[in-house]
Amino acid sequence: MLRAKHILVGISGGIAAYKIPELIRHLRKAGADVRVCTTPNALEFVTELTLRTLSGAPVYSDVFAAINSHSTEHISLPEWADMMVVAPATANVLAKMAHGIADDALTTTFCTTLGAGKPIVIAPAMNDNMYNSPATQASLNTLRSWANVRVLDCAEGELACGTSGKGRMQEPDVIAEAVRQSLTPQDLLGRHVLITAGPTREKIDPVRYISNYSSGKMGTALALACARRGAHVTLIAGPMRVMPDFTAYPLVNVVHVESAREMHEAALAAWPTADTAVLCAAVADFAPAETAPEKLKKQPGQTEMLLRLTLNPDIAAALGGSKRTGQRIIGFALETQNEEANALRKMHDKGLDFIVLNSLQDAGAGFGTDTNKVTIYALSEQKRTLPLMSKQAVAEQIVSACIS
Ligand code: PMT
Repeated sequence: MLRAKHILVGISGGIAAYKIPELIRHLRKAGADVRVCTTPNALEFVTELTLRTLSGAPVYSDVFAAINSHSTEHISLPEWADMMVVAPATANVLAKMAHGIADDALTTTFCTTLGAGKPIVIAPAMNDNMYNSPATQASLNTLRSWANVRVLDCAEGELACGTSGKGRMQEPDVIAEAVRQSLTPQDLLGRHVLITAGPTREKIDPVRYISNYSSGKMGTALALACARRGAHVTLIAGPMRVMPDFTAYPLVNVVHVESAREMHEAALAAWPTADTAVLCAAVADFAPAETAPEKLKKQPGQTEMLLRLTLNPDIAAALGGSKRTGQRIIGFALETQNEEANALRKMHDKGLDFIVLNSLQDAGAGFGTDTNKVTIYALSEQKRTLPLMSKQAVAEQIVSACIS
């Protein structure tokens, strides 16, 4: 997504500037080409040598210094760039940017990029009182009103001045994710996608449960793919070890659940306002008929234990049965034998529009891996088999084939 993209990083003079080398490294690792421009004050916080070395290009910080003999940087850099990120943005620089004041390398470059209509992401950072001042809030509101500008909210927490409050710059990973989104076509704007992900846990007693090997990687990759394209996402997540950071996406709402019954309840609550459901969770079909209130103890001489299970609600079938015109459902099937026949039967029985089949017979596919190999079946009898690829790439293909 960032491969070969041209990203202009603008830095102003705040203490959070020390984190920008990390952002540059992240962007370059993802394959982007990076150029840096700064205010003169920014170089009090991070050295020109660090920025030049990490970006692999000269740093533009002085409007009167000739970086090369044939161009004016504040014009040529925005022409070169696919987007610009300003981080950290101080109160002073926010005010200048909001009022078209262009009196240094950063603000002249910002003004030209703004006028060229290229996407711009701004990550403010300052003391909480400065952030809350009516002057700064007015600058932020002006900047937010421009179509090609996205201003990230400051984070709350400890501030460099020793106090605590709202004023911290978002972390480099979050800024990089906002950069990614700014370069992604927003073809799911206005859409609401419900996604179930991960395993469920069915409690036997306070210390034991029935579950499966789902890590949640496939489902969260789908949530990220939809969010990057502008969708409002309700991610209903079973207990999973890792959860991506969705801070860059205020339209992602994560609902944490444990059991299939809780997942069923949360899915039914979100379904009336969703236009699409992607049911990637590995839901336990059965749960213990009773959950013991105390830890079950093995008795002297006991050689076996019988556990009575009852059927859990089928979320896919419930949504399929209450589908209104315009809603669509994409189910998943993880199979070990008769894969195609089993997947097609589930698609028809549960009222699904698509089913994504992954088989444990394929190396690198299914539970826990960072990759997957899937075949997408449509109710229209179309079928598309994808090669082994990362779960993120699979998610993007599923979104393109079944949602957008
Ligand atoms: O989480 P990862 O480690 O990345 O692994 C991803 C995955 C292998 C879990 C995922 O790609 C996948 O295949 N998920 C579906 C697992 C499965 O076998 O589902 P199923 O065949 O039991 O169910 C078929 C469909 O009905 C699924 O969409 C399932 O979410 C849904 N279902 C099933 C039972 C139930 N009670 N309610 C449901 O909604």
